[in-house]
Amino acid sequence: MKKLPVIIDCDPGHDDAIALIAALASEKLEVLGVTAAAGNQTVEKTEKNARKVLEICARTDIPAARGRTKPLRNPLSVAPEIHGDSGMDGPLLPEPSMPVCKESAAVLIAKLVEESPQPVALIVTGPCTNAAVFLLAYPHLHKKIAKISLMGGGAYLGNRTALAEFNIWTDPEAARIVMESGIPLEVYGLDVTHKAMIYRQEFSLFRQRKETVFQFLADLLDFFGGTYLEARHLPGAPMHDSCAVIGLTNPELFTYRETTISVETESARSRGALTMDLRPGAERQDSVCGKIALDVDREGFLKVLLRACETITRQRREKGYAS
Ligand code: RIB
Ligand code: CA
Repeated sequence: MKKLPVIIDCDPGHDDAIALIAALASEKLEVLGVTAAAGNQTVEKTEKNARKVLEICARTDIPAARGRTKPLRNPLSVAPEIHGDSGMDGPLLPEPSMPVCKESAAVLIAKLVEESPQPVALIVTGPCTNAAVFLLAYPHLHKKIAKISLMGGGAYLGNRTALAEFNIWTDPEAARIVMESGIPLEVYGLDVTHKAMIYRQEFSLFRQRKETVFQFLADLLDFFGGTYLEARHLPGAPMHDSCAVIGLTNPELFTYRETTISVETESARSRGALTMDLRPGAERQDSVCGKIALDVDREGFLKVLLRACETITRQRREKGYAS
């Protein structure tokens, strides 16, 4: 089966780390590169966390690059209340030993896209800053971006404000550039990511297995589920970012609506809010269009994550890593 080449721009971030595991484990994806965004934490921290995840997944062959230090217009506002001071508090991991690329995120994305024999899908699980910089700097490469699968926004939910989700709120200007690029767009917003939840009583499905990557994911869930309980009173850990990956590998698990999507950038009160027309029969306008996921088969989604941990465990063993 021909694999879909992907580049993942992320801000690890507990749920970004789990999304990376899902992507690296999938037989349907070829992860060409990982780029770090400033979002959950500073880009220095998210970039280091991304390399830690690549190392624990025995994939130090995949290049990792650092993106912009701040959003296009607004100051950076990190989220230690959810992800901790390191951006990935909880798991105890050694400092990464694999090098970080000398190229910036946008330059690495351009290089990988140019070198790819087929169009590449861009997966964005943090603010859209790096994706926007790439799109602005390399317009001739848009035709080699097959689609953009993005975790962000929400039709009916916000979390950074009542109206806006964190990734879009952090850099609404960048999100608008992505959404108005004309590149096919899949949006996984809070409406579906809160349904893609691993409930607290299910954390043991990972904790009970002693292999490294199961324990790593269990450590992520314990911390992330704990902060979400305290900060958002949720009964588990919403797998926000894994939706943007598993939507590409297992679209049958999701329910989508085609719609027009636009981003509010001017109003301080509604900055980062996504607006879309989901009325029955609403027609897609030509200007901005994509599909937004609104529902998910949660049991099936959980099985994909468990299988991903099995696959990474096998891959680690095949490379001589301790299980
Ligand atoms: O609002 C959820 C999103 O913000 C996720 O991508 C999470 O990692 C944070 O970046
Ligand atoms: Ca993220």
